[in-house]
Amino acid sequence: MSDAETRRRSWAEPWKIKVVEPLKMTTRAQREEAIASAGYNTFLLRSEEVYIDLLTDSGTSAMSDRQWAGMMLGDEAYAGSKNFENLSEAVAKYYGYRYLVPTHQGRGAEHLLSKMLIRAGDVVPGNMYFTTTRLHQELAGGTFVDVIIPEAHDPNVELPFKGNVDLAKLEEVITTAGPARIPYISLAATVNMAGGQPVSMENVRRVRALADQYGLRVMLDATRAVENAYFIQRREAGYAEKTVAAILRELCSYTDGCTMSGKKDGLVNIGGWLSLNDAALYEEASNLVVVYEGLHTYGGMSGRDMEAMAIGIAESVQDDHIRARVGQVEYLGRKIMEYGVPIVKPIGGHAVYLDARAIYPQLTQDEFPAQTLAAALYLDSGVRAMERGVVSAGRDAKTGEHHYPKLELVRLTIPRRVYTQAHMDVTAESVAAAYDARAGARGLRMVHEPKYLRFFQARFEPL
Ligand code: F0G
Repeated sequence: MSDAETRRRSWAEPWKIKVVEPLKMTTRAQREEAIASAGYNTFLLRSEEVYIDLLTDSGTSAMSDRQWAGMMLGDEAYAGSKNFENLSEAVAKYYGYRYLVPTHQGRGAEHLLSKMLIRAGDVVPGNMYFTTTRLHQELAGGTFVDVIIPEAHDPNVELPFKGNVDLAKLEEVITTAGPARIPYISLAATVNMAGGQPVSMENVRRVRALADQYGLRVMLDATRAVENAYFIQRREAGYAEKTVAAILRELCSYTDGCTMSGKKDGLVNIGGWLSLNDAALYEEASNLVVVYEGLHTYGGMSGRDMEAMAIGIAESVQDDHIRARVGQVEYLGRKIMEYGVPIVKPIGGHAVYLDARAIYPQLTQDEFPAQTLAAALYLDSGVRAMERGVVSAGRDAKTGEHHYPKLELVRLTIPRRVYTQAHMDVTAESVAAAYDARAGARGLRMVHEPKYLRFFQARFEPL
C-alpha cells in the first residue's frame, strides 16, 4: 500500500470507546474549599474534586480490550509465571535488551540500578535531572551533573531535538571527575523536565562513541522512548520511512540497559522494569530485586499486570497509536498558543508546559509561580495540572539551598487514550481564562516541606 493509503489525514485515534467513566463537575465555591484544604498543592486534591485530570500521564492511561483480556490470563504463581516469560519476550523483541528484572514501577528500577553501580563520590552525568532518578542517584552517594544542551533551559528556543546531550560538556565532566568516578551516563528519551523534548539518534550514537572512548556504560531512561522514536521518525533525516518500532530498537541498541516506568509508554496502570545486557550485572540485579521488590520473576507486579504490560508494549510501538498520542498533545499545545499563552516550544511528547515565569513576571521564584498557576487553573475549571519548577527541583543535597531551575513550568500532561478533543478544547479555554487573570496573582508561601521529593506533599498558603 502507498503512503497515502496507509496514512490517515488527521491524527484521529485508531480506536473507539467501549467503556466510559463518568466525570464530576464542581462549583467554584467547592473548588476554593478543595484547593485550600489541599494546601494549594494539586497532588493533595482528591481525584473526585477534579474534572479533567492532567496531573500526569503516569499510570493514568486506558487499557485496550486486549489488555483487559490479558488480565484474565494472569499466572499468579510466586515463581516462574508465564506472564513473566511473555513480558521478557516483549521487552526483548521491542527494546532489544537481553535480561529483564521486573519492578513495581520506574523508581524501583532506578533504586536497584543506583544501588548496584553508584559509590560515594561518584558523578552521574545526564541530560537534565528527573526527580526520582536524581534522588536515587544521590541516596546512593552520587552527584548528578546536568549535561543537556543549554537551549533546553530556554522555553522559547525551537529546536527539533532539544533533549540532546551537550557532548563537549559531557566529555568535560568525564575528564574532570575521571572515568573511574562515572558509574554510567544517564540518558533520558524524551526529557520530561525539559518539556518532553526528544534526543536525536545522531546524538545518542555520539554519546555511545564517547562512552566507548572512556569505557563507560550508557543507561537509558526509556520511560517515554517510544514518543522519542516517533519524533525521530518525524524530524530526523533518514528515518521517515522506518517504523517507530525499528527506530526504538536502534535507539536502545546504543545503550547498555534501561530503567523503565511502564506506566507511561507501556499503557498500564502499574509496573516497570530494569533491563540489562551484561550477564554479571543481571545476576546482581536479579539477586537485589528479591530484597526490595519481589522475586526476580515478578518484582512487585502481579502476573496479570505483567501480561497487561506485555500486550501494552506491543500496542505502544504501533505507528498509528503513537501518532494519535503525540497528535493530541500537539493539538492542545497549538490551541493554547492561539490564545497567546506562553508555552515551552516545541510542543513535547506527553504534555504541554506553560511558562509560569513569563505568565507571572511579578512573582519571584521564592513565591512559587508555577505552583500558583497550577492552583489558579484548578480554581478556574477543575483542570488539574502539575508544578514543574522550583518546588519540584527541591534543595541542593550539599548546601540545603533551593535549586532554582531556569524552567518554571506548569505541566498539562495528557493520559493516553483517555480524553477527547472536546476535553482538550475545554482545557485550552481554561488556561486562557487563568492567563487573562494573570495580573491578580500574588504567589504562595510554603508552610510544610517534606524531606524527600517535596513537591508531592508540600503545603502552601496564599501570600
Ligand atoms: N523517569 C521519568 C522520565 C519519569 O517521568 C518517571 C515518572 C520516572 C522515571 C519514575 O517512574 O513513576 O514509575 O516510578 N514520572 C511521573 C510523572 C511520576 O508524572 O512524570 P515511576
